[in-house]
Amino acid sequence: MTRLDRVEHTTGFTGPPLTPRTAVIWSVLAAELARRDGDQLTVLDVGGGTGGFAVPLARAGHWVTVVDASPDALAALTRRAAEAGVADRVRAVQGDGDALGGLVEPAGADLVLCHSVLEVVDDPAPVAAALAAALRPGGAASVLVAGRAAAVLSRAMNGHLDVAAALAAAPAGSAGPRDTLRRRFDSDSAAALLGAAGLTVEEIHGVRVLADLLPATVADGQPAALVELERALAARSPYRELAAQLHLFARRPA
Ligand SMILES: C[S@@+](CC[C@H](N)C(=O)[O-])C[C@H]1O[C@@H](n2cnc3c(N)ncnc32)[C@H](O)[C@@H]1O
Repeated sequence: MTRLDRVEHTTGFTGPPLTPRTAVIWSVLAAELARRDGDQLTVLDVGGGTGGFAVPLARAGHWVTVVDASPDALAALTRRAAEAGVADRVRAVQGDGDALGGLVEPAGADLVLCHSVLEVVDDPAPVAAALAAALRPGGAASVLVAGRAAAVLSRAMNGHLDVAAALAAAPAGSAGPRDTLRRRFDSDSAAALLGAAGLTVEEIHGVRVLADLLPATVADGQPAALVELERALAARSPYRELAAQLHLFARRPA
């Protein structure tokens, strides 16, 4: 039985329906919530957008602050929280990830989320440092970043060999000014970023190892089987490195 299987059997956490984009992340988060044994956690979601993780966590009884640069995203978050009946548990704060120090209490969070943000900010190092500073000693960080290998493969398979070559060669894993992302990561570079911020990386999983590679007829036709396969491959080499995203679970030393 894998760690993710054990989570299913040992936690009472019921998150939203699992998809190839979310199943592995929710499994890792559920294990941390179970470890805290029913505590109501203080959660900070940096770049939390419209609340895809924040609202289910609030529904599970936790207190969630979402810091996001986009007023539109925060407005959608506020509506979503109200519709879910958890408006009192979700706080929306407009601001920049690298200015967290002035927006939230230092060392106040039990759990910090930062999903799909470090690849778009100007400089990920101060944001990673701000995530660490926002955590209580012993608190945990859930960080999701874009994977470089999957981007190289998908560009090549679509016939854009020049872009694939540029992505593979560029130190930051970005194809240049027209690329929507400023950088992409592999496991080592993502772990090094969090390590330099003072966090101890405990687990790394691949997210969407297969989902983006399959024809829609397969992905849409067999969603439960795809989720199971994603979960089975997420922690295993070489599949993890080929995933569209890498999920790192890290902790601020106690
Ligand atoms: C791709 S979305 C991800 C949303 C959410 N974390 C998720 O995984 O569904 C990126 C989010 O980060 C926000 N964002 C981008 N740069 C940011 C920054 N420097 N500080 C705070 N939020 C930022 C955007 O407004 C957007 O809501």
